[in-house]
Amino acid sequence: MANTILVGAQWGDEGKGKIIDVLTANADIVVRSQGGNNAGHTVIEGGQKYILHLIPSGILRRGKVCVIGNGVVIDPVALVGEVTGLRELGVKIGKNLLISDCAHLVLPYHRALDEQRELRQGRAKIGTTKRGIGPAYGDKAARTGLRITDLMQAELFTTKLRAKMLENNSILEALGAKPISFEKVNEDFLAAAEELRPFVANTVVYLHRALQQGKEILFEGAQGTFLDIDHGTYPYVTSSNTTAGGACTGTGVPPHRMDRVVGVMKAYTTRVGEGALPTEDAAIAEMLHEMGREFGATTGRARRCGWFDAVASRYATMINGIDELAITNLDGLDTVGSIKICVAYRLDGKEIEVPPSDAAQLERCEPVYVELPGWKQSIENARRLSDLPNEAVEYARRIADLTGARLTMISVGPARGQTLLL
Ligand code: GDP
Ligand code: IMO
Ligand code: MG
Repeated sequence: MANTILVGAQWGDEGKGKIIDVLTANADIVVRSQGGNNAGHTVIEGGQKYILHLIPSGILRRGKVCVIGNGVVIDPVALVGEVTGLRELGVKIGKNLLISDCAHLVLPYHRALDEQRELRQGRAKIGTTKRGIGPAYGDKAARTGLRITDLMQAELFTTKLRAKMLENNSILEALGAKPISFEKVNEDFLAAAEELRPFVANTVVYLHRALQQGKEILFEGAQGTFLDIDHGTYPYVTSSNTTAGGACTGTGVPPHRMDRVVGVMKAYTTRVGEGALPTEDAAIAEMLHEMGREFGATTGRARRCGWFDAVASRYATMINGIDELAITNLDGLDTVGSIKICVAYRLDGKEIEVPPSDAAQLERCEPVYVELPGWKQSIENARRLSDLPNEAVEYARRIADLTGARLTMISVGPARGQTLLL
């Protein structure tokens, strides 16, 4: 039995959804512990594409229970939409979904404030998903947030909402934005509350009982290590702890019950939004975009792309305590003749092996590369390590060695079956 934390080891969109879907086969429960519907996790199964935003990617497998933990911020209207959309695709959602009553709510004024702050930042904007994530976590930290438990009590919710709307509408008006209708939000949220009521529970108690029964829990990270509010490339980050520790605080499962940490990383690097990306490379971005790849699952934005950054991935191994590595999108490099790996940064004439904490310094870092020969053939049909060309095995082993964790999975395509278990 192993309780597993899965984290993104880069800047998000590493292919966590796909790997969670594969690992769910051996788990009983899949839990989201942080983030909100800024996340977009893609699973392709049976020729159907599913994009999960708030619901754990384990929902696609029958007999598994999915939990949205206390650390997640929930837009109830968006969540109802997600449940409906999945049901339309034939996914069964009933007793297999639980929502923490302690999770904070994302309200329409959070989204409006997110948008206004971005607008006012101009060129210094973060490039958020505009889902209201920063302002919602801001309210949580300021102890002025509304939670699922409030939403479950109509009268109390309406009273609290009225006060919050008054405050936030005056802020929005001061920023030159349109105020939001209290009546409409109240009505929409109370309607969503009734849809969500059957799923709401004390998920901490549920998870602890499950642990006592020896059930196996998979913690599905959202975003990635360098978007972590504490350890990421601040201020170009999201507003939650995306690293392994977030799995404990965001679910109420204590650290000593965690058995292993799996880090997911692409065979190259991508980032959506602003902030430094030392290995960014226009040619590799063009190649991937021409293949129809690397467009955001949440906002549809073209992702910025670059070579594999081992300075970043080594740091990610340290922060998260990554034991095992899953490398995804190895097939993305099928056509590249010579593949670069960043092994150090050069900052102001000095070579460094740890990413600087300062955003402006990181922006000035120049990558120091080694080059490895490519394999120049399609690997999408590989199912065993022995099916891969030597160059592909060499490359995967090299980036795992540089990262400092054991390579246990390689993904060569988006579908469930396109996975090599080592
Ligand atoms: P997540 O947010 O970490 O779950 O990742 P996203 O779903 O946002 O982005 C990953 C993208 O890569 C999705 O379009 C996946 O379908 C796709 N994907 C995942 N693994 C592989 C792979 O090994 N090969 C290919 N070609 N696509 C993959
Ligand atoms: P998944 O779980 C990639 C990025 C945004 C922006 C920054 C802050 O699919 O990997 P926010 O809306 O959170 O305030 O935006 O974080 N971002 C992500 N990038 N994958 C994600 O999630 C992301 N969630 C947020 O693009 O740069
Ligand atoms: Mg994503």
